[in-house]
Amino acid sequence: MEAFVGGLPKVELHLHIEGTLEPEMMFRLAERNGVALPFASVDEVRRAYEFTDLQSFLDIYYQGAAVLRTEADFYDLMWAYLERAAADNVRHAEMFFDPQTHTERGIGFPVFMAGFAQARADARERLGITTHLIMCFLRHLSGEAALDTLEEARPFFGEIIGVGLDSGERGNPPQKFVEAFTRARKAGLRAVAHAGEEGPPEYIRDSLDLLGAERIDHGVACEQEEALVERLAAEGIALTVCPLSNMKLQVFPDLRDHNLRRLLQRGVRITINSDDPAYFGGYVGDNYLAAQRALGLTREELATIARNGIEAAFLDDGRRAELLAELEGYLARG
Ligand code: ADE
Ligand code: ZN
Repeated sequence: MEAFVGGLPKVELHLHIEGTLEPEMMFRLAERNGVALPFASVDEVRRAYEFTDLQSFLDIYYQGAAVLRTEADFYDLMWAYLERAAADNVRHAEMFFDPQTHTERGIGFPVFMAGFAQARADARERLGITTHLIMCFLRHLSGEAALDTLEEARPFFGEIIGVGLDSGERGNPPQKFVEAFTRARKAGLRAVAHAGEEGPPEYIRDSLDLLGAERIDHGVACEQEEALVERLAAEGIALTVCPLSNMKLQVFPDLRDHNLRRLLQRGVRITINSDDPAYFGGYVGDNYLAAQRALGLTREELATIARNGIEAAFLDDGRRAELLAELEGYLARG
């Protein structure tokens, strides 16, 4: 099974680039940039990764991002992730970034976008991995701040495939961001949103109906509303599920209780992703394997999950057909 999962051609659709900052790189960049860290060692950082909920993680995650300062830092961060993704046979990745985490510290779009552009070009050329960038608005900040960020991003719209919504979910409903999403979609950007991770099923509905979200990130709370599960299945809306994240953030403290297999069996387009792999103890291949072991997923179910990822990606028809053919070829050789 490990070899089967390892070789499975994968698409990753829910990955925060700031969440790929491994403690070793955190220390290296802190030293390079003269940034003080509140940790004495890599081991101490890892020991701090005991999360009780989403917010307890976000506090440490935003603190860690403070070491990212130069174009080279953003390049190194993204390149390290893409090299690691290649080892899991990721063939296409749609990566989230949180511009407000950086602009609030005085690091502007030209700095991180230049680092990202070079890493993506190198991944295409050296690893054969295609990539997209999705810009997330931080939902604990205001709708006006999201609008300002969208305008700052406008010169870079050619490098951004879509917008997303992340950070603390509870108490920060999709309603806050209707204008930002409407304006982004008018400019031709695609839309996704985190919803139903810790928040209620109505945040999933409202993300679809008010924000125009085409995929839902996490979305596991849909199971609380029968009609919503039926709607997601009927409309083919993908959920970008992140099993190890859900376990670490106590959404499903025991992975054996995770609902992804039930939802898959009910026809919901489930995908498996890593969210913030440096913080949650595993990259996308680890997430596939952990879910397989905990839930007894069959090869056919794993193949469906991989196929769902290709189908739900914001790919052009040519690249989508190429990846589907690659997957079917792999399964036929199985
Ligand atoms: N930012 C990074 N990871 C996140 C998650 N799982 N939920 C909300 N915001 C995030
Ligand atoms: Zn996420």
